[in-house]
Amino acid sequence: MHKKKLFVANWKMNMTTQESLAWCVTHKNELQKSSSQIVICPSFTALARAGEIFKDTGIAVGAQSCCEHEKGPFTGQIAAQDLAEIGCSYVIAGHSEERALGVTNEIVARKMVTILKAGMTPIVCIGEPQTIYDAKTTTNFLTKQLAPLLAVTDQGAALCIAYEPLWAIGSGIMPSLETLKTIFALLHKKAPKATLLYGGSVNKENIASLQSIPYINGFLVGGASLNFDEFNLIIS
Ligand code: PGA
Repeated sequence: MHKKKLFVANWKMNMTTQESLAWCVTHKNELQKSSSQIVICPSFTALARAGEIFKDTGIAVGAQSCCEHEKGPFTGQIAAQDLAEIGCSYVIAGHSEERALGVTNEIVARKMVTILKAGMTPIVCIGEPQTIYDAKTTTNFLTKQLAPLLAVTDQGAALCIAYEPLWAIGSGIMPSLETLKTIFALLHKKAPKATLLYGGSVNKENIASLQSIPYINGFLVGGASLNFDEFNLIIS
């Protein structure tokens, strides 16, 4: 488990390489002042240069995905080892936007293995759709989603697990604090050695109350990480 709080900026496909690098150069000094562990996840094309910009700053760079295979005839895919070589230390695996394109839980588990083998930390995303939440079967759903992921690690050691309810991503709404307390207690019970993150509509207004929830060790921030002033308020 990470000792410092972890703040992961998932920029998705929102900025070009030039825009991403300009962001990194402009805000590097300010970001460095944070006592938390910051991970910036730009698009693949910006990763190598973002890694150079943040070299020796303590700010980490992460990829938004990788291939589940180590190498071979997989046109258009990117290997975990390749990402490690250019300075990535984290890789997001199984974000719901990736799962929506057909990436199954078993594929996510395989991605996790290749990421670990390449010496990086997987940030594995789990979360239920609205229908499951409405049917009050979230804990059952998450238990099933976690099973193949936890089968390959010792109680979640070396993993970051990001709980992101699908209906909370980019929507401005999120579960109640009471619901989150129950879910994070469950996740901690299932994966006591994992670093547990919350993601889905995190912003400068709700971050203080989210920080009070036991077992949340960090946050995966999408939209609110694009604007530096907002992200800086979140991390501080
Ligand atoms: P959001 O995205 O913060 O914009 O809701 C979070 C995510 O998709 O990881």
